[in-house]
Amino acid sequence: MIKIGTIGTNWITQRMVEAATATGEYELAAVYSRHEDTGKAFAEKNHCQQVYCSLNDFMSSDQFDTVYIASPNVFHFVQVLETIQHDKNVIVEKPAFMNPRQMQRVLDELTLHPQVRLFEAARNVHMPAFKAVQKTLAKVHQLAGADFVFSQYSSRYDLVLAGETPNVFNFKFAGGALADLGIYPLYDAIGLFGLPIKQIYYPTMIAIGADGKGTAILHYADYDITLNFSKISSSKHKSEIYAGRDIIAIDNGGEFTEAKLITPDETKVISPKYVKNPMIPEMTDFANVLNHHDNPEIQRQYQAWLQLMQQVNETLNNLAVSAGIHYPDQFKE
Ligand SMILES: NC(=O)c1ccc[n+]([C@@H]2O[C@H](COP(=O)([O-])OP(=O)(O)OC[C@H]3O[C@@H](n4cnc5c(N)ncnc54)[C@H](OP(=O)(O)O)[C@@H]3O)[C@@H](O)[C@H]2O)c1
Repeated sequence: MIKIGTIGTNWITQRMVEAATATGEYELAAVYSRHEDTGKAFAEKNHCQQVYCSLNDFMSSDQFDTVYIASPNVFHFVQVLETIQHDKNVIVEKPAFMNPRQMQRVLDELTLHPQVRLFEAARNVHMPAFKAVQKTLAKVHQLAGADFVFSQYSSRYDLVLAGETPNVFNFKFAGGALADLGIYPLYDAIGLFGLPIKQIYYPTMIAIGADGKGTAILHYADYDITLNFSKISSSKHKSEIYAGRDIIAIDNGGEFTEAKLITPDETKVISPKYVKNPMIPEMTDFANVLNHHDNPEIQRQYQAWLQLMQQVNETLNNLAVSAGIHYPDQFKE
């Protein structure tokens, strides 16, 4: 069993615990919260005995080997670094890091802890539909670009309109649409098409100083890919990949639950709708890596995810900089 300790007690951690439990590979061993009551309530709900309110004590614990980090974005870098230094594996929520300097610092630390594995919880690239699209892409011709869309009105935007500054829209915590929902279509594009030659981001800024929505254009040698994402409006647009007369249609660039190949003659479902907890596929993939250190093929796949994480991080930074966005950085020399 992989023993997990968690940071962050919001709904996403609850969903991860349910997914992890469903795989049969993990056990929740400890919970960290800044507040004892919150930590205890979360732990009790999930039949866990151990709650820490000191991050130092949590990190030093030998009751778990893997940490799941779902704190506000700005804290990820320092918490990941500390976890690796304590020789524990890390599953960190997206975006793992806010710039390439943070990413490189973490990669350097990983070389000192060769048994430790690091994962970014970009659940879309672990979905069966994503893997089916990858296989289908290898067979189509005349690739002509793609449009990936992920727009969901956030209930927390209602709080912004009421005069509050929730973390997810708080630039101080590296909030905003690009760093939040934007990561998913970015993973779609780079996971399927590789690094772009150049990129530009056109954000729609909201009054409290974060990007509420935006359009990013990734330029490749033979085509462009557009990414549309929003937390202040919704969209029911499908995501599509264009290949001559054929279209690969994905229900949603963020969720990636279902994919079809549409040709002039037929519409073929290449991956049927995934209806279970959407974190199960990623937690299954991560368990596979953690449980098979001696399997070269699985570890090569892990290295490929690490490389993808680095490419997404680089492009995220380039997009932000292209729009004059400079996220706060907790990196200290
Ligand atoms: N994969 C997905 O589908 C998905 C979905 C949603 C969010 N996320 C990611 O998960 C992460 C957390 O997002 P969220 O919306 O849950 O964030 P959040 O509600 O702002 O904070 C998450 C947790 O961090 C702790 N926290 C809150 N404010 C803090 C502060 N000022 N200083 C230190 N800790 C603080 C809280 O736990 P305690 O009070 O217990 O300490 C809270 O439960 C983000 O990176 C986000 O991108 C991923």
